[in-house]
Amino acid sequence: MGWLASVLYPVFSFLKPPRIAEATVSSVKWGAAADFAAGTSEIVKFGRTPVLLLRLDNGDFRAFEATCTHLDCTVQFRADKKDIWCACHNGVYDLRGLNVSGPPPRPLDEYAVSVVDGEVFVSRAEA
Ligand code: FES
Repeated sequence: MGWLASVLYPVFSFLKPPRIAEATVSSVKWGAAADFAAGTSEIVKFGRTPVLLLRLDNGDFRAFEATCTHLDCTVQFRADKKDIWCACHNGVYDLRGLNVSGPPPRPLDEYAVSVVDGEVFVSRAEA
């Protein structure tokens, strides 16, 4: 009987949720806005969620969850085409995060971007 406990205990320990839940991230600091070139993008980790942070040619920032709304691949900014692209099934979003072609069924989730004292912050957009 002892052998059964020795087999099952590690399995149950693994399956049991941790006592402390992952801290909820509400805002992430990217860095100095002056270091973020127009027409480029970065992936920012928002907790476990990748967020695509873009700086448009006019200097404005935009941020979207980088997870495709089709089957959860990671999307990327295409500076040459001025769009957001999912390589998995050729899904395309515009720079407002709207799904414009391919299989994605809905827009990307948007995050808020603010610049405070020259520093760029990404936070969850208010519903
Ligand atoms: S997962 Fe992005 S288009 Fe299919």
